[in-house]
Amino acid sequence: MTEQVAYLNGEILPLSQAKISVFDRGFRVGDGVFDTARSFRHKPYKLREHLERLYRSMRYVRINAGIDIDELEKITRQVVAHNAKLIDERSDLWMTQVVSRGVYNRKVGITASSATVAVVTEPINFSTFAKFHRIGMPLITPSIRHTPPECLDPRLKTTSRMNLHMAELEAQGHDPSASALLVDLNGNITEYTSGNFFIAAGGELYTPHEKTSLAGIARATVIDLAREQGIVVHVADITPYDVYNATEAFITSTSKCILPVGKLNGIRIGSSIPGPIAKRLLTAWSERVGVDIVEQALWHLPEEDRRRLDAAAVAA
Ligand SMILES: Cc1ncc(COP(=O)(O)O)c(C=O)c1O
Repeated sequence: MTEQVAYLNGEILPLSQAKISVFDRGFRVGDGVFDTARSFRHKPYKLREHLERLYRSMRYVRINAGIDIDELEKITRQVVAHNAKLIDERSDLWMTQVVSRGVYNRKVGITASSATVAVVTEPINFSTFAKFHRIGMPLITPSIRHTPPECLDPRLKTTSRMNLHMAELEAQGHDPSASALLVDLNGNITEYTSGNFFIAAGGELYTPHEKTSLAGIARATVIDLAREQGIVVHVADITPYDVYNATEAFITSTSKCILPVGKLNGIRIGSSIPGPIAKRLLTAWSERVGVDIVEQALWHLPEEDRRRLDAAAVAA
């Protein structure tokens, strides 16, 4: 089959036939959870960790997928094996499991519906962020604050991300290429709209607490790689003041792995992109997975853009 496939409620189907009800609570009220892993060289990476986080999310919100983790892993691998044949060898896939509480059942209340379970893949959109490996990502702290842990545990990966979207829209209102770096009610940095955050100071790394941000799997990988490299990592309160005075900053996420941050609120961070620690970690991570992470992202840009970025990096 030359069309991508998806899994939906017990069946693997052509993607165009994977449809859900307009009464699905995921669609109607954001009553669902999800997780997204990626591939390297078309093979799922840390899929089990992502699925374990998905099952923890489900347990927290009391959704029963009606399928066990081994089976969902097997299905994800099947969907990836098919869809990976449809992308070129230098691309990779996101693989997402989405589980909603299912179709409304007004007669019996919210816990009674049977869950909607889907597995889909998409090619990672490297071209949208590749340039930031050379020029650094601009971040802005919006006025919208991160949802406090007293309201929703930030370890939950929920489909209702309005808080994050509002923050992103505000940041992009200031600078269309910027993303939001959310602070909590006390002014401490939490996470960016789709990734975790690190700064370096005095040759050591600092990242916000899990209490206020998603326990990112890329974040855990960075902590692990850093410790392997003898780099001390602190989990700490970080404010914009700390970021302005840092020697470097970067974000981490499944698709981007590590992406340098160039500016926060228009203030330049550090003196090189990437900073020396991000560079070491990107090299170590690339060796681990057998893919040059930066080159892979840049390869997805038109040749002319790559040349312009290389020239800008030399001039900087
Ligand atoms: C809000 C938020 N924080 C952090 C992350 C990073 O998590 P991971 O490294 O597991 O992709 C994500 C990833 O989607 C996210 O959406």
